[in-house]
Amino acid sequence: MLKIAVFVSGRGSNLQAILDAKSSGFLNVEVAAVFTDRPDSGAVERAKGNSIPVWVICKEKKSGSVSNEELSGLLGKLKIDLIVLAGFLKLVPESVIDHFENKIINIHPALLPSFGGKGMYGMNVHRAVFNSSAKITGPTVHFVDKLYDNGKIIAQRAVDISDVNSPEEIAERVLKVEHELLPFVIKKIEEGKVKTINERVVVF
Ligand code: GRF
Repeated sequence: MLKIAVFVSGRGSNLQAILDAKSSGFLNVEVAAVFTDRPDSGAVERAKGNSIPVWVICKEKKSGSVSNEELSGLLGKLKIDLIVLAGFLKLVPESVIDHFENKIINIHPALLPSFGGKGMYGMNVHRAVFNSSAKITGPTVHFVDKLYDNGKIIAQRAVDISDVNSPEEIAERVLKVEHELLPFVIKKIEEGKVKTINERVVVF
């Protein structure tokens, strides 16, 4: 069974979507750990409510938390197969990226490579999409490298926003689709159906 660690900073609705997909039998994974930089977040509440061990990440060594330096060792000890960034706002430490090449995925609420990068998170993304007058947006799941929102794209879904009146409306529409796309990609990875061929990531 695929052992996953979910990294979170916010409300945790994508974490919840993973847990729901597991409960319904769609996903055959173990959510072995949740890591966060925000111990007071809604996502942490959800993890605790589901008896998932939570670790707080802190750049420097501090009692009761995991330092950047200790993180990849701990993930190795936990035998984590896949790291899922689900609303995690910090950059993943380089040592973790090096140890988990092509084993870290992120969900972003816009169609990368547009509307991504530093500072492009949460409503900032949807506001930028709204102000651009784009008619289509949608979530992207991609592999994580050392830069924000930069790794190869695994899967995307288009969401029609030609008739929206606010960034909030965009956020609501995209989030619904995120909750389908993230479990879908995790399932494909679990089944070994995500491959890189000729520089492109292909989902079978
Ligand atoms: C989602 O929109 C996700 O795409 C982005 O951060 C948000 C997290 O939402 N990376 P939640 O915490 O999963 O509800």
